[in-house]
Amino acid sequence: MDFLSIITAKKLHQELSAEEISCFAKGAADGSVPDYQLAAMLMAIRLNGMTARETADLTMAMARSGDMLTPDVGGIPVDKHSTGGVGDTTTLVLAPLVAACGGKVLKMSGRGLGHTGGTIDKLESIPGFRVSLPEDEFVEIVRRVGCAVVGQSAQLAPADKRLYALRDVTSTVDAVPLIASSILSKKFASGARAIVLDVKYGSGAIMDSMEGTLALARAMVDIGAQAGRQVTAVISSMEEPLGTHIGNALEVKEAIDILSGRAGGDLKKVSLFLGAQMLVASAVCPDEETALNKLSLALDSGAGLNKLQEMIRAQGGDDRVCEDLSLLPQAPFKIPVPAQGSGFLARMDTAALGRAAQGLGAGRLRKEDVIDPAVGIVMQKRIGDRVNAGEPLAVLHARTKDSAAAAALAVQKAITLSDIPAERPRLIDAVITQSGMRKL
Ligand code: URA
Ligand code: CA
Repeated sequence: MDFLSIITAKKLHQELSAEEISCFAKGAADGSVPDYQLAAMLMAIRLNGMTARETADLTMAMARSGDMLTPDVGGIPVDKHSTGGVGDTTTLVLAPLVAACGGKVLKMSGRGLGHTGGTIDKLESIPGFRVSLPEDEFVEIVRRVGCAVVGQSAQLAPADKRLYALRDVTSTVDAVPLIASSILSKKFASGARAIVLDVKYGSGAIMDSMEGTLALARAMVDIGAQAGRQVTAVISSMEEPLGTHIGNALEVKEAIDILSGRAGGDLKKVSLFLGAQMLVASAVCPDEETALNKLSLALDSGAGLNKLQEMIRAQGGDDRVCEDLSLLPQAPFKIPVPAQGSGFLARMDTAALGRAAQGLGAGRLRKEDVIDPAVGIVMQKRIGDRVNAGEPLAVLHARTKDSAAAAALAVQKAITLSDIPAERPRLIDAVITQSGMRKL
């Protein structure tokens, strides 16, 4: 097929056929279409969009560009994906809880890039934990324990790998059909039959408006409908970091604190809500209420914490971290960041807080950077809180005093105080499934 004529068709707003779209995905995966033509095609899609049918065809074509797993895990394989957050470690809380309730959580996760953290980096802060497992061992752990979390193998959706790298440098990241197909092609290829998407809105989110957020969520639910997979989208707030801890070992600690009943808050609420959607989407529970009750029991009884311990052990990690948090990497300096004025906390620039943690060493500036598992930020205040001058806004966990000084300024700048009481952002805004949208 002549790829130039396919680019021309998209330029002229014509709808592409399944064959033309498959030619695009194949050409990206096998290298037969050069970068400059792929780049032109990406920009044509960014400017002229894709229909729901085209988007679903692109998703399936990218999924089929590499291995397609069909794992036998003794139930419906379920996965959860977040469009990217800060202090967002729902996976480490909900995967063991869902497993304790009988779900089969087959999770392939990414590393952190930019201001958002990655589950794989967080898990690597546990001594001995293996994020790379042979496929049969991964599937065996999901079947036996109920959950396993590994990095994505290179053989999965290679078309996405090439296109994603080009999008970064061609200003085509923010295109709904490209984001939706990129996320779901990898989930479909990994063998998930039920997928719960946590689509973020707010200052730390991938889409900068609520309209864009809803359009992305709807596009992904539509792809699920066309592909015969159960896709549920939850719209939740990234107006502030979800948990209080930002950083790799720090986020593992917060997950263990929640599973031990020592901590609560928004991270716990969103984890339970997403977990409930996973149990319903994978047909373990008949409805949300039953699922939420079951998850609360698993949390209160300690069954969730036991599952996390089992998973860590199965993946070669030191499971004693669940009882002794001092076995996690610790930063040498713990430095409070004082508020410079008084008032009500009105706004946070969540992406800037993520970048401040990145500056301490918790994230990467470039793909090849090595992260420091111990460092990060523990927030002391949330939107709506009353703040007095000199009170700590956050505590920095730093490797050096110099890195802490830069991060302290960034944290102060990322937080806006106001004289009038501020309203709390809506934590969970809506749930979208094939049957429509439910506002919460
Ligand atoms: N995450 C992905 O995997 N792909 C995108 O395009 C955006 C976020
Ligand atoms: Ca995440």
